[in-house]
Amino acid sequence: MDFEIVNGDVATCETECLIVGIEADGQLSPSASALDKAAQGYIADIVGGGDIQGKTAETLLLQKVPGVTARRVLLIGLGKSEERNDRNYRKIVKSAMAAIKGVRAQSAVFALDGLGSKDDDQYRQIRHLIEWAGSELYIYDETKSKKADPISLDKIAILLSEDDSELGEYAVLDGVALVNGISTARELGNLPGNICTPTYLAEQALALGEEHDALEVSILDEDEMEQLGMHSLLSVGHGSDQPSKLIVMHYKGGEEGAKNHVLVGKGITFDTGGISLKGGAGMDEMKFDMCGAASVMGAMTALCEMNLELNVVGIVAAAENMPSGCATKPGDIVTTMSGQTVEILNTDAEGRLVLCDALTYAERFEPETVVDVATLTGACIVALGHHATGLLSNDDALANSLLQAGDQAADKAWRLPLWDEYQEQLDSNFADIANIGGPPAGTVTAACFLSRFTKSYRWAHLDIAGVAWNSKGKDKGATGRCVPLLSQHLMNLAATD
Ligand code: BES
Ligand code: MN
Ligand code: ZN
Repeated sequence: MDFEIVNGDVATCETECLIVGIEADGQLSPSASALDKAAQGYIADIVGGGDIQGKTAETLLLQKVPGVTARRVLLIGLGKSEERNDRNYRKIVKSAMAAIKGVRAQSAVFALDGLGSKDDDQYRQIRHLIEWAGSELYIYDETKSKKADPISLDKIAILLSEDDSELGEYAVLDGVALVNGISTARELGNLPGNICTPTYLAEQALALGEEHDALEVSILDEDEMEQLGMHSLLSVGHGSDQPSKLIVMHYKGGEEGAKNHVLVGKGITFDTGGISLKGGAGMDEMKFDMCGAASVMGAMTALCEMNLELNVVGIVAAAENMPSGCATKPGDIVTTMSGQTVEILNTDAEGRLVLCDALTYAERFEPETVVDVATLTGACIVALGHHATGLLSNDDALANSLLQAGDQAADKAWRLPLWDEYQEQLDSNFADIANIGGPPAGTVTAACFLSRFTKSYRWAHLDIAGVAWNSKGKDKGATGRCVPLLSQHLMNLAATD
């Protein structure tokens, strides 16, 4: 798919589908007015007839409008100006894309006059248009014998004034990098557990390293992790025939000697719960338990494509959590790489067991900041539902930057407390710390567990259990969240570092 910026007169724009906005109560947007003038009142007449009212995301497709070069004109409702927020803007883009795909147009030009979202600047509107239009083109068919019909659309352009074009070009470059990062994460998430194993994730990371000169990838196998004392991480994969992997992706886009920012992803390629076996209903969804890893790999993809001037290390802790005669049992005690011992009271609280060793490993990069991403707790879905990522941090400035990045990227997070009061829930009679803290505040106690391993640096934890995938119907599948938040965070760091 080609995305580009075009200039010129909307009436003579050559495309198979030109998209212009109709505001609430049928008011024509500037581009719709210009078309109407060229068409001698044709559009105002149709809108006046009540065929479209301008409600958010409402569409009306017109063919061969007189005096207009475009083969089709798609009128799209922009809604009331005070209701033009990210959510409605995304609905507008989604509904426009459905209409464009529906008529199998090969090219489309959006002329939305920057009216999509009221509190957006031009850059952000264009970038979101690209991200969201691009996401509508993602199709999963890797494991279907009958491949999806190829989408006929091969060019999407945005019509801008010449003055806005330079900014527009940057927005397109960033938007395309984000689409690729998001699609990478979705594809990894959607692949089944029998294909997307820890070894597969490692191969994909190595392939990404081959593509980009600035990215060095190395893989630690079980023997190497054993040498480092990562017994907690290794305990999770004991019951599995699939070997665990620690994937390290070092992006060196910044100055030599500039500090590293570290991202750590939970890569449980399937979570049965282990000996603390999960119930059968919906267990297939635990193939998505590597979506934290997928987000990190997606953000690394976007980062490489944007050539950000920053040093970033992406670490993925990959393992499969299975029950077997070799599996870790409730009550087992392991020694982590940090030296702290953990009593594993529930083998289904495995994410924190792989992350803690990866977080200790992160110390060797002398990080400026560390952000981990994980589908860590069902409790996060109870607390925040499917809209916000849970954010917990030992550093207010880092937490606030991540919240802000989430708002900018329309990939929202919400902070939960990480107070000392909660730490006591992790007390163990037999080890330094237990891996579960009981029913109250499960997301907080999971983060409390991680906080025991992140004392030496500025750290934040993102719990994406509620947002990483959709469970229902036609939409079932990975969402690519939180690639936008992470990428925005890195972009902001690159701009200020
Ligand atoms: N991967 C799950 C968390 C999860 C559950 C994410 C459902 C999305 C949907 C995690 O490994 C897990 O099983 N957590 C347990 C922790 C508990 C045993 C303390 C949970 O949330 O029940
Ligand atoms: Mn689990
Ligand atoms: Zn899990």
